[in-house]
Amino acid sequence: MQAREEAEITFDPEAVAPALLGWYDVHARRLPWRKLPGEARQEPYKVWLSEVMLQQTTVAAVGPYFAKFTARWPTVGDLAAADDADVMAAWAGLGYYARARNLLACARAVAAMGEVFPDTEEGLRALPGLGEYTAAAVAAIAFGRRAVVVDANVERVVARLFAIDEPLPGGRAAIRFAAGQVTPDERAGDFAQAMMDLGATICTARSPRCMLCPLSVQCRGRAEGAPERLPVKAAKKAKPLRQGRAYWIERDGKVLLVTRAGRGMLGGMRALPDDGWSAKGDGAAVLDGEWRQGGVVRHSFTHFDLELQLMLCVQPGAVSHGDGEWWPVEQIEAAGLPTVFAKAARLAIAERNG
Ligand code: ADE
Repeated sequence: MQAREEAEITFDPEAVAPALLGWYDVHARRLPWRKLPGEARQEPYKVWLSEVMLQQTTVAAVGPYFAKFTARWPTVGDLAAADDADVMAAWAGLGYYARARNLLACARAVAAMGEVFPDTEEGLRALPGLGEYTAAAVAAIAFGRRAVVVDANVERVVARLFAIDEPLPGGRAAIRFAAGQVTPDERAGDFAQAMMDLGATICTARSPRCMLCPLSVQCRGRAEGAPERLPVKAAKKAKPLRQGRAYWIERDGKVLLVTRAGRGMLGGMRALPDDGWSAKGDGAAVLDGEWRQGGVVRHSFTHFDLELQLMLCVQPGAVSHGDGEWWPVEQIEAAGLPTVFAKAARLAIAERNG
């Protein structure tokens, strides 16, 4: 019979927080929006801003945006007073643009409350566009409230610690409950960030570094021998492919840009005119003119992949497009185009030069 090495565990939920906080005191990542253990708490505005930016986005990508926003709008009142178009343009490239619209709505609500953020999870949750995760994170990190903060990193750590193998998304309730069992009353903000750091640096998705983990003696996932298989995720559906066209219409060194409508895909963002790929499957050309077919831009969104055929029309005759603005091509970087249209613009500029 083959001997199988089983790790020894001693599981005591009460011992998790002290072990993790001791590790965090030494290993906390230095991040621009973070105060280290022992320092005074970070301003709620900066905690909130960073947490909104960090959803669905990596720490590395957020750094420059956080610096830009806090330099340009140092307080929630400054942000509340900003023009929508400036905020949307400053957000360009960070993705999930509904977050930027919600950010502004929330900043304006806080400004109306005397520029003071509510200091409880419940009060924060009542602000526009502020969801369960952000309310818990801000309550814990900015105000030291006990709150159960669960993002994807925390989900992974907890699923392994408790060996929860019910597939996500169904398994989230069990993970949340388990996270609540190990969340301490004191230092809840440090605890939340310690879980995130552990997930990002040690308890990583593919090859967890269990030998360096402060929770390894407690971890049922490790004891069972294959922590990397947790959390189990339901099989992903294949993403549909959508196709569309984007139009580069240039005259006298200026390109026609539009502002996308409302709350839909990339709503409120400046963009090249297109044929409606975001609303439909395949669209037909809707603008008249002398067109040249350019290259194809590929971009992956959360729920579909997109192939965008670029069409170019340089020095057209009369162009009637009521709601557009002519933007100097030389200053296209400052237009704040979302990534898919920034890719299309780069391609168009290369093609018209080439
Ligand atoms: N991801 C989301 N919020 C975070 C934080 N406060 N620290 C590190 N990673 C995070």
